[in-house]
This record gives sequence, structure tokens and C-alpha cells, in this order.
Amino acid sequence: FSLKPYNTFGVEAYAKYFMEVTSLDQLQEAIHFSHSDHLPLLILGGGSNILFTKDFEGLVIKLNLKGITEQIVDQNHVLVYAKAGENWHEFVIYCLNKNYGGLENLSLIPGNVGTSPMQNIGAYGTEIKDTFVSCTVLNKESLEIETFNLEQCKFGYRDSIFKQEAKGKYIILEVAFRLTTTHHTIKTEYGAIQSELENLGIQHPTIQEVSKAVINIRQSKLPNPKEIGNAGSFFKNPSISLKQFEELKQKFENIQGYSNGEMVKIPAGWLIEQCGWKGKQIENVASHKLQALVIINATGLASGKEIFDFSTQIIDSVKEKFGINLEREVNII
Ligand code: EPU
Repeated sequence: FSLKPYNTFGVEAYAKYFMEVTSLDQLQEAIHFSHSDHLPLLILGGGSNILFTKDFEGLVIKLNLKGITEQIVDQNHVLVYAKAGENWHEFVIYCLNKNYGGLENLSLIPGNVGTSPMQNIGAYGTEIKDTFVSCTVLNKESLEIETFNLEQCKFGYRDSIFKQEAKGKYIILEVAFRLTTTHHTIKTEYGAIQSELENLGIQHPTIQEVSKAVINIRQSKLPNPKEIGNAGSFFKNPSISLKQFEELKQKFENIQGYSNGEMVKIPAGWLIEQCGWKGKQIENVASHKLQALVIINATGLASGKEIFDFSTQIIDSVKEKFGINLEREVNII
């Protein structure tokens, strides 16, 4: 079964078995099947953060659980529950149409609601942990339903318990967010949002206008996966010690860094650009010409292996020039 339509890189890979499920019953049935045949299992959401480098000799389940429900909390807040298979951006727009605030900075992020807690998706000064309340999950072994609250999810930068000790153990079924109905905390500190709002001539933005600004910024530099295969940022922004940062600053005076506690976070896009990769293409794969952190399937003909090898070359050159280890953000299969 071809997985090409189910990954935003648009690479070819085959699964031995594939099932699309729209209900919990179907999901449990599919898992039973994988247990009884001792098949490895892979749960697929939007396919926007995954790179297949080979075929998958097991069962791929595409999670298509849909539905959104709401519950008023108080005068200023609403709880919104979204099923895992809801498309993330459509969900954000649904909330904005109802004038529910908190997710506007996360407009146009590819992927589905169910995968958003995995890596605590974030952009333009917001992460989902800022509005996340809880998620219900299916335990793959016991097939019981459990709940993880904010604290239990152990969110960090592009990180959660689901990438650490709970990795591979649960399937996220539904996520609950606490959103605002009166908006006192619109976040526009991120430089790019400020300049875009200025461009649009907006001084006191609504949440809908913040969303519009974010959409404009993303569309101006991030390639649309429907047109050019990609998975957004391919690497995480690395954190280095203050000492290492000071040493690098002696050698590379333009180096940027955002301090967070004892550590300094460096924009990986800048490091990659300095190594000469921005816009560079090798056969079918390239680093995006407007944002070096994004690796693209430039011809549409790239294999996953080719993209992986390209990313290894980038890691090696950043290591050589700056002594910094880049970590892949995309899940490699
Ligand atoms: N930069 C360069 N060259 C480049 C790209 C960036 O010098 O080719 C510099 C920029 O000049 C800027 C800095 O790097 O000063 C940061 O760039 P940008 O604002 O584009 O953000 P980023 O750190 O590269 C992160 C997220 C994005 C998110 C943006 C906006 C990660 C790994 N990526 O990118 O998330 O949209 O911030 O908040 O944290 C994603 O995860 O897929 C993603 C797109």
C-alpha cells in the first residue's frame, strides 16, 4: 500500500497493511489485528512531521476521528474538545470563527490535532501547552482509555512525554483546550508579527487579525506542502551553554541567540545558512531558499533516503563549522 499521499514530503514508501479508522471501535479492532499477527504498528496523523526512509513491514493506521465539542467554563473561557483526526489549521479557523482566542499564533501549522501534543507544536511566541488542558489517549497494550493533564504531558520545546518515556505507548484520541472568549492576552511580541501588523496598518489587532498576520508570514517564507514536499522545520533550534555561545561570538560576531536560563538557543536556520546550504540543491533535495531550516523535495522525485542523507550532510557541516549538534525534529521511520 503506497504511503506517498499520506506524508507531506511526498516520498514513496509502502506499508504491508494500511487501515483508515473513523471510530474508536475500528481503532481497537485494528490494534487487535496487529497484536494477533505480531505486526509493528504505526499511527499516522497528518503525515506532516514524518520521513519514510524505507517500507514499513507492519500495519499503518491513519487516524480519522472527527468532531469538535465545547463547554462554557465561565464568562471569559470555554473548553474546546477536538478529536485527533481534525486538521489543525481548520480547527484553529473554527475557533477563530467562534471568536475563541489562544490558538491564533498557531495558524497554518500543518498536521492534525492529535499530533499537536506530541511535539508541543509552537510558533510566533505560542505553544500548545499555553492553552492545553488534557488529552484522552488509548493505551496500545491494555486498550484502556486514559487521560493526561498538562503537568503529566511534561511539555518542553518541541517535546512531551509522548516523545520520551511514553513513546509509542499511547494513541492520542482527543485534545481539550482552554480558550478565551474575551481576549486580554493577545501575543504580538514576536518581531515578525509586529512588522506584519504594521504592514497591514493594524494597531490594536483582534485575534483574527493576528491569525491573518501569521498566515501572511508563513505563506511568505514557508513552502506549501501541497505544492512542494516538506515537513516544516527539519531540525530543532539547538541550545548551547552560555560559555560556548560567548566563544562562538568571538569568531562569528553576527551569531544570534536567545537566552533561556543557563542555555542559549541558536536559530538553526542561521547556522545552516552560514554553512552555505540555503537554497542549495543536490539532485532531488534542497534547503528552502527562503528558510534554510526547511528541507524540500525539490523535484517531487526524492526518496526518503535521499532526504535523510541530505540532512546528515547539513548536520556534519554545522558540527564542523560551529561545533554544534543539530537534532532532527522530523520523525524518521
Ligand atoms: N534565519 C536565518 N536564515 C534562515 C532562516 C532563519 O538567518 O534561512 C534566522 C532569521 O533571520 C531569524 C531566526 O533565524 O532571526 C529565526 O527565524 P524564524 O523566525 O524563521 O524562526 P525559526 O527559529 O527558524 C521557529 C520554528 C518554526 C516557527 C518559527 C516561528 C523551530 C524548529 N522552528 O523557526 O516552526 O514557525 O520559529 O515561531 O523551532 C516547524 O516547527 O515546522 C516550524 C516551522
